[in-house]
Amino acid sequence: MPEVDVTAARILDVGCGINKYPGAIGIDRNPRSRADVLCDLDRFPYPLRDSSFQALRAVHVIEHVSDVIRAMEEFHRLVSPGGRVLIVTPHYTDFSSFCDPTHRWHLNSFSFRYFGPDHGGFGYYSSARFREVSVHVRLLALWRYVGFEFLVNHFPRFRRFWEYYLCYVIRGKVMEFEFEAIK
Ligand SMILES: C[S@@+](CC[C@H](N)C(=O)[O-])C[C@H]1O[C@@H](n2cnc3c(N)ncnc32)[C@H](O)[C@@H]1O
Repeated sequence: MPEVDVTAARILDVGCGINKYPGAIGIDRNPRSRADVLCDLDRFPYPLRDSSFQALRAVHVIEHVSDVIRAMEEFHRLVSPGGRVLIVTPHYTDFSSFCDPTHRWHLNSFSFRYFGPDHGGFGYYSSARFREVSVHVRLLALWRYVGFEFLVNHFPRFRRFWEYYLCYVIRGKVMEFEFEAIK
Protein backbone atom coordinates (compact mmCIF):
# COMPACT_ATOMS: atom_id res chain seq x y z
CA MET A 1 0.00 0.00 0.00
CA PRO A 2 1.51 3.43 -0.89
CA GLU A 3 2.20 5.58 2.13
CA VAL A 4 2.88 9.28 2.00
CA ASP A 5 5.58 11.04 4.05
CA VAL A 6 3.65 13.32 6.37
CA THR A 7 6.57 14.69 8.35
CA ALA A 8 6.29 18.04 6.55
CA ALA A 9 2.55 18.44 6.57
CA ARG A 10 0.45 17.41 9.54
CA ILE A 11 -2.93 18.50 8.22
CA LEU A 12 -4.96 16.14 6.05
CA ASP A 13 -7.55 17.60 3.69
CA VAL A 14 -9.93 14.76 2.85
CA GLY A 15 -11.75 15.17 -0.46
CA CYS A 16 -9.71 18.31 -1.06
CA GLY A 17 -10.94 18.89 -4.61
CA ILE A 18 -9.28 21.97 -6.10
CA ASN A 19 -9.45 23.99 -2.86
CA LYS A 20 -6.80 22.16 -0.88
CA TYR A 21 -6.11 23.80 2.48
CA PRO A 22 -2.73 25.62 2.36
CA GLY A 23 0.06 23.40 3.67
CA ALA A 24 -2.14 20.34 3.95
CA ILE A 25 -1.80 16.94 2.33
CA GLY A 26 -4.83 16.34 0.17
CA ILE A 27 -6.56 13.10 -0.69
CA ASP A 28 -9.24 12.75 -3.32
CA ARG A 29 -10.18 10.26 -6.01
CA ASN A 30 -10.32 12.82 -8.80
CA PRO A 31 -7.02 13.10 -10.71
CA ARG A 32 -7.94 16.67 -11.69
CA SER A 33 -8.07 17.69 -8.02
CA ARG A 34 -5.08 19.03 -6.04
CA ALA A 35 -4.72 15.71 -4.23
CA ASP A 36 -1.27 14.49 -3.18
CA VAL A 37 -2.68 10.99 -2.78
CA LEU A 38 -5.38 9.63 -5.05
CA CYS A 39 -7.66 7.31 -3.13
CA ASP A 40 -11.26 6.24 -2.91
CA LEU A 41 -12.83 7.21 0.41
CA ASP A 42 -15.13 4.22 0.11
CA ARG A 43 -12.23 1.75 0.22
CA PHE A 44 -10.69 1.06 3.59
CA PRO A 45 -8.19 1.61 5.03
CA TYR A 46 -7.02 4.83 3.41
CA PRO A 47 -3.32 4.56 2.40
CA LEU A 48 -1.99 6.64 5.30
CA ARG A 49 -0.40 5.70 8.62
CA ASP A 50 -2.18 5.69 11.96
CA SER A 51 -2.06 8.89 14.03
CA SER A 52 -0.02 10.75 11.40
CA PHE A 53 -1.97 14.03 11.36
CA GLN A 54 -2.60 16.69 13.97
CA ALA A 55 -5.69 17.87 12.18
CA LEU A 56 -8.02 16.62 9.49
CA ARG A 57 -10.50 18.59 7.41
CA ALA A 58 -13.41 17.14 5.46
CA VAL A 59 -15.18 20.08 3.85
CA HIS A 60 -18.31 19.21 1.88
CA VAL A 61 -17.21 15.59 1.62
CA ILE A 62 -18.89 13.44 4.28
CA GLU A 63 -22.24 13.69 2.47
CA HIS A 64 -20.58 11.98 -0.54
CA VAL A 65 -19.09 8.88 1.09
CA SER A 66 -20.80 5.50 1.09
CA ASP A 67 -20.34 4.81 4.83
CA VAL A 68 -20.27 7.77 7.23
CA ILE A 69 -19.50 5.65 10.30
CA ARG A 70 -16.60 3.86 8.64
CA ALA A 71 -15.20 7.13 7.23
CA MET A 72 -15.35 8.72 10.70
CA GLU A 73 -13.48 5.70 12.06
CA GLU A 74 -10.78 6.28 9.45
CA PHE A 75 -10.59 9.96 10.42
CA HIS A 76 -10.19 8.82 14.04
CA ARG A 77 -7.42 6.40 13.07
CA LEU A 78 -5.49 9.00 11.07
CA VAL A 79 -5.32 11.79 13.66
CA SER A 80 -3.06 11.70 16.68
CA PRO A 81 -4.54 11.49 20.20
CA GLY A 82 -6.23 14.82 20.81
CA GLY A 83 -6.11 15.60 17.08
CA ARG A 84 -8.83 17.80 15.65
CA VAL A 85 -11.33 16.83 12.96
CA LEU A 86 -13.30 19.52 11.13
CA ILE A 87 -16.41 18.44 9.25
CA VAL A 88 -18.36 20.90 7.10
CA THR A 89 -21.55 19.65 5.48
CA PRO A 90 -24.96 21.01 4.44
CA HIS A 91 -27.90 20.86 6.80
CA TYR A 92 -30.52 18.61 5.24
CA THR A 93 -33.03 21.46 4.97
CA ASP A 94 -30.75 23.49 2.71
CA PHE A 95 -31.35 23.63 -1.01
CA SER A 96 -27.77 22.43 -1.61
CA SER A 97 -28.31 19.18 0.29
CA PHE A 98 -30.71 17.78 -2.29
CA CYS A 99 -29.77 19.61 -5.48
CA ASP A 100 -26.53 17.61 -5.83
CA PRO A 101 -27.34 14.04 -6.89
CA THR A 102 -23.89 12.89 -5.72
CA HIS A 103 -24.93 13.56 -2.11
CA ARG A 104 -25.78 10.24 -0.46
CA TRP A 105 -26.57 11.64 3.00
CA HIS A 106 -28.69 14.48 4.29
CA LEU A 107 -27.58 15.29 7.81
CA ASN A 108 -28.56 17.38 10.80
CA SER A 109 -26.66 18.87 13.71
CA PHE A 110 -27.00 15.66 15.77
CA SER A 111 -25.87 13.24 13.06
CA PHE A 112 -22.48 12.56 14.68
CA ARG A 113 -23.78 11.80 18.16
CA TYR A 114 -22.84 8.11 17.95
CA PHE A 115 -19.24 9.15 18.56
CA GLY A 116 -19.97 11.34 21.59
CA PRO A 117 -20.14 10.60 25.32
CA ASP A 118 -23.43 8.68 25.39
CA HIS A 119 -23.26 7.67 21.72
CA GLY A 120 -26.88 8.68 21.25
CA GLY A 121 -27.79 5.40 22.94
CA PHE A 122 -26.13 3.45 20.12
CA GLY A 123 -22.60 3.04 21.44
CA TYR A 124 -22.26 -0.32 19.80
CA TYR A 125 -22.30 1.23 16.31
CA SER A 126 -18.65 2.28 16.60
CA SER A 127 -15.80 2.22 19.08
CA ALA A 128 -14.27 5.46 17.71
CA ARG A 129 -14.68 8.24 20.24
CA PHE A 130 -14.71 11.98 19.63
CA ARG A 131 -15.29 14.90 21.94
CA GLU A 132 -17.50 17.50 20.30
CA VAL A 133 -15.50 20.72 20.58
CA SER A 134 -18.02 22.88 18.74
CA VAL A 135 -21.00 22.75 16.42
CA HIS A 136 -21.97 25.81 14.42
CA VAL A 137 -25.06 25.96 12.25
CA ARG A 138 -25.56 28.66 9.66
CA LEU A 139 -29.12 29.46 8.74
CA LEU A 140 -30.46 31.14 5.63
CA ALA A 141 -29.69 34.87 5.75
CA LEU A 142 -33.21 36.02 6.65
CA TRP A 143 -33.22 33.88 9.80
CA ARG A 144 -29.72 34.99 10.70
CA TYR A 145 -30.78 38.64 10.57
CA VAL A 146 -33.74 38.10 12.88
CA GLY A 147 -31.59 36.33 15.48
CA PHE A 148 -32.50 32.65 15.08
CA GLU A 149 -28.94 31.66 14.19
CA PHE A 150 -27.70 33.15 17.46
CA LEU A 151 -30.28 31.18 19.45
CA VAL A 152 -29.50 27.92 17.64
CA ASN A 153 -25.77 28.27 18.25
CA HIS A 154 -25.78 29.57 21.81
CA PHE A 155 -28.45 27.38 23.39
CA PRO A 156 -28.10 23.62 22.74
CA ARG A 157 -31.65 22.98 23.95
CA PHE A 158 -32.93 25.54 21.48
CA ARG A 159 -30.96 23.82 18.70
CA ARG A 160 -32.70 20.56 19.56
CA PHE A 161 -36.10 22.36 19.58
CA TRP A 162 -35.25 23.93 16.21
CA GLU A 163 -34.31 20.54 14.73
CA TYR A 164 -37.50 18.92 16.06
CA TYR A 165 -40.08 21.59 15.32
CA LEU A 166 -38.86 24.54 13.29
CA CYS A 167 -36.21 23.59 10.74
CA TYR A 168 -38.55 22.88 7.83
CA VAL A 169 -39.55 26.56 7.96
CA ILE A 170 -36.48 28.17 9.52
CA ARG A 171 -34.12 26.35 7.24
CA GLY A 172 -30.50 25.51 7.89
CA LYS A 173 -27.66 26.08 5.49
CA VAL A 174 -24.30 24.66 6.46
CA MET A 175 -22.96 22.99 9.61
CA GLU A 176 -19.42 23.05 10.96
CA PHE A 177 -18.36 20.45 13.51
CA GLU A 178 -15.06 20.36 15.31
CA PHE A 179 -14.17 17.14 17.13
CA GLU A 180 -11.23 16.04 19.24
CA ALA A 181 -10.18 12.42 18.80
CA ILE A 182 -10.18 10.48 22.07
CA LYS A 183 -7.73 7.59 21.95
C1 LIG B 1 -18.05 19.08 -3.07
S1 LIG B 1 -16.38 18.63 -3.39
C2 LIG B 1 -15.54 19.48 -2.07
C3 LIG B 1 -14.13 19.79 -2.39
C4 LIG B 1 -13.37 20.65 -1.37
N1 LIG B 1 -13.29 19.99 -0.07
C5 LIG B 1 -13.99 22.01 -1.24
O1 LIG B 1 -14.52 22.34 -0.17
O2 LIG B 1 -13.96 22.76 -2.21
C6 LIG B 1 -16.31 16.91 -2.91
C7 LIG B 1 -14.95 16.30 -3.16
O3 LIG B 1 -14.96 14.98 -2.60
C8 LIG B 1 -14.39 14.09 -3.54
N2 LIG B 1 -14.98 12.75 -3.32
C9 LIG B 1 -16.29 12.44 -3.27
N3 LIG B 1 -16.46 11.13 -3.06
C10 LIG B 1 -15.20 10.60 -2.97
C11 LIG B 1 -14.69 9.30 -2.77
N4 LIG B 1 -15.51 8.24 -2.62
N5 LIG B 1 -13.37 9.12 -2.74
C12 LIG B 1 -12.52 10.16 -2.88
N6 LIG B 1 -12.94 11.42 -3.09
C13 LIG B 1 -14.26 11.65 -3.12
C14 LIG B 1 -14.73 14.65 -4.90
O4 LIG B 1 -13.83 14.20 -5.90
C15 LIG B 1 -14.64 16.15 -4.64
O5 LIG B 1 -13.36 16.65 -4.90
